[in-house]
Amino acid sequence: MKTLIRGRVLSFYADPAETDDNHRFWDNGAILVQDGRILAVGDYADIADPQAQEIDHRPHIVMAGFIDPHLHFPQVQVVAAWAAELLDWLNDHTFPIEAQYRDPDHAARMAGAFLDQLIRNGTTTACAFGSVHKASAEALFAAAESRGMALLAGKVMMDRNAPDAVLDDAQSSYDDSRALIERWHGRGRLEYAITPRFAITSTPEQLRAAGQLAAENPGMAVQTHLSENRAEIELTMQLYPEVRDYLDIYDHFGLLGPRSLMGHSIHLSDRETARMAETGTRAIHCPTSNLFLGSGLFDDHAMRAAGVVTGVATDIGGGTSWSMLATLAEAYKIAQLRGRRMHPLAAFHWATRGNAIALGMEDRIGSVQPGRFADLVVLDPCATAAMRLRHDKVDSLMQELFILQVMGDDRAVVETYVAGRAQKSPQAAE
Ligand code: GUN
Ligand code: ZN
Repeated sequence: MKTLIRGRVLSFYADPAETDDNHRFWDNGAILVQDGRILAVGDYADIADPQAQEIDHRPHIVMAGFIDPHLHFPQVQVVAAWAAELLDWLNDHTFPIEAQYRDPDHAARMAGAFLDQLIRNGTTTACAFGSVHKASAEALFAAAESRGMALLAGKVMMDRNAPDAVLDDAQSSYDDSRALIERWHGRGRLEYAITPRFAITSTPEQLRAAGQLAAENPGMAVQTHLSENRAEIELTMQLYPEVRDYLDIYDHFGLLGPRSLMGHSIHLSDRETARMAETGTRAIHCPTSNLFLGSGLFDDHAMRAAGVVTGVATDIGGGTSWSMLATLAEAYKIAQLRGRRMHPLAAFHWATRGNAIALGMEDRIGSVQPGRFADLVVLDPCATAAMRLRHDKVDSLMQELFILQVMGDDRAVVETYVAGRAQKSPQAAE
C-alpha cells in the first residue's frame, strides 16, 4: 500500500548557515510513501501515483518531523517548577518527582503521556534521559516501540549527591544499563544511550563504569550534562579537583566522541571547545531551559566557528515548552542577544536535519528524501487568529517559517507522521 502525502513540501539537503544551496520547496508538492519510507518527493504532477492513497494537506507545509536531542522523560510533571537555579531545582522539585518512576505502572502511564506530547508537537524522534530506575527506560522503550518511533533513551546513572530513592551504585548502574542494552538496543527503531546524569551525581567509579559501557558498545550514544551554570561548575571542580576543567572529567573516562551529546555546554573555556571539536563531541543548546533556570546564553556561533556540531533541544522539564517551534523562538532571541540574526531556514534545518546530524542519524531521519523514514510534520502558519492576521502581510516562505518559529506551538501542528502513519488522526493513513 502506497500513500501520497500532498502539501507544500520543504526539504533540506544542506545547512543554510553554511551554504545558500540548501533546500528544495515544492509549492504543489507530494511525498510518496511505502512501508514507512519515502519512495519519492517532488512536484505532485511528477510523482502522482494512481495506486496510492492520497492525503491532501494543502495549503499546509510538510517537512521532516522535529528531532529533540535532549529531554527528560521523568520530568513530564516538572515543567514550570519554581526554583532559584539548577541545583535547587534538581533537589527541591526534580529528584522527588523522578523517584516515582520506580513504579512500573506510573512509568508506563507517563511514557504514554510523554510520547503524546512529542507527537502533538510534531517531534518524531527524541533522545531522552530516563530516571535512575530500570523500569523507566523499559516503559519508555516499550511505548515507543508500539508507536514505531525512532527513540534513543537510557536509564540515568547516579550514585551520589541525591536522595536514596534516586540513587544506584556503580555496579548496579552498569548491570542495569547492560541489561537494557541487550533487551532494547537496535530493536526496531530504538537505540540505547549511555546516560550518566552529570559529574556531580556520579562517583569516579560510576563514570568508569559508563566509560566501560561506551568501550564495550562502540558507536553507542552517550548523553550527559556539561557546564550549565556557575554553581554547578564550582561544585563539580570541588568533586574532581585533579582535572583541568569540566569536560576533562568526561574525557578522562572515555566519554567523548561523535556520538556524545553534552547538554547545555554554556560556560566553556577555549580548551574545552577545541577538545569538543577535536573529539567530535556534540553540544546541545537548551534555550528555554537555560533562560528559565537563568543558566546562561549558549554561543552557537562560537561553537560552530570552532568546529563543534550543535543540536537544539527542549530539555523538558528544565525547559518550558515541548514545542520545537517555541524552542527555536528562544534560540533566536538568545542569538539576538549575542548579536547574531538566525535565518528561519537555518532554524528549521537545525531542528530537523541538523539535529539528525548531531545524533549521527542523518542517513535515516531529518530530511524528506527517498530512502529516509517518512517521519513528517505538517505545519499551519495560520494556526491562530494572531498568526492569521500576521500571515496576511507575508509573501515568502522565509516569512511564513518565521511566523511559525516566533508565534507557533502545538496548535500549528496539523499532523505528525511516524514512518508514514498519521499519529494525530490515525484514520487518515495507514
Ligand atoms: N543537570 C543534571 N541533571 C539535570 C536535569 O535534569 N536538567 C537540567 N537542566 N540539568 C541537569
Ligand atoms: Zn537535561
